[in-house]
Amino acid sequence: MQTAHNQAIGEATGKIILMGEHAVVYGEPSLAIPFPKATIQTTVTQSKGPITIECIYHSGLLSTAPDRLANLVTVVDVSLKALRQEAKDFSLHITSSIPAERGMGSSAAVAVATVRALYNYFNEPLSHEQLLELVNVSEVIAHGNPSGLDAAMTSGESPLYYIKGQPFIPFSLSLDAYLVVGDTGVKGQTRDAVSSIATLMESNPEETSQDIHHLGELADKAKIAIEKNQPVEVGKLMHQAHLLLTKLGVSNNQLNHLVDAALEAGALGAKLTGGGRGGCMVALADNEVAAQEIVQSLNEMGTSSTWVYHLGGGSVE
Ligand code: MEV
Repeated sequence: MQTAHNQAIGEATGKIILMGEHAVVYGEPSLAIPFPKATIQTTVTQSKGPITIECIYHSGLLSTAPDRLANLVTVVDVSLKALRQEAKDFSLHITSSIPAERGMGSSAAVAVATVRALYNYFNEPLSHEQLLELVNVSEVIAHGNPSGLDAAMTSGESPLYYIKGQPFIPFSLSLDAYLVVGDTGVKGQTRDAVSSIATLMESNPEETSQDIHHLGELADKAKIAIEKNQPVEVGKLMHQAHLLLTKLGVSNNQLNHLVDAALEAGALGAKLTGGGRGGCMVALADNEVAAQEIVQSLNEMGTSSTWVYHLGGGSVE
């Protein structure tokens, strides 16, 4: 969206992976939903001289941005090359309500919003394929071996069933249930978690591939159970997925404590979501009262934030 002749903005949303994180990197199916409560916005404004950036991590020249912004620096660079524009004479301002490094796709979302803002600023059309291609270059920097799921989810509007390398398949969230999202308040470590599974795959290929394949089967079963509106079944599948992700070394104590607290408070199932080793977990509740009881219990365990998402209704509170 171009707001004035010398300014343009680009936006993206957060995402929640319901099932299949990590396994999706190895070609297994995954299920994810956009999370519109958490959004990010990049504004590009005309200025003179080298590119500057203002965001929570850095205020100053883009060329002196800290390493944690390497994916952003890269996405600006590849976008400008694709646009055949020089790297100067504008500033970037990024505002976000997506908690950073919590498995909600903040790294992909910042790249999506920034590519959109740059294309808007230079008045060039941007296809969804081009957008994903540019964002995935920066996701390699952020994640090492990205499946492409985060880029697709943070740039789209519908729940997606996704197998790496295949077209995204939108699916309907016809599940009469509530999803509670709890933030451990601790940064997730997607890159380390992805590479630790890669190491396991080398040291113990047979068992690790079986576990990864099992995660994919659980995602497939969950899709069917969602379509048949069977929340109890979905909850069981989520719990099994959490146990497998824990076995693969991508959970941690904080996540496990929140998952246990949610189950004790009556959740139908609970699991980590996203990269793991910190970040967020999700729990399934069969009605709003049950969801609030889970929220209370997560708060007592010290969650930094919680969200309640009405899956069937698609609304976020
Ligand atoms: C991170 O949000 C999801 C992972 O499956 C990595 C990826 O899909 O690129 C852990």
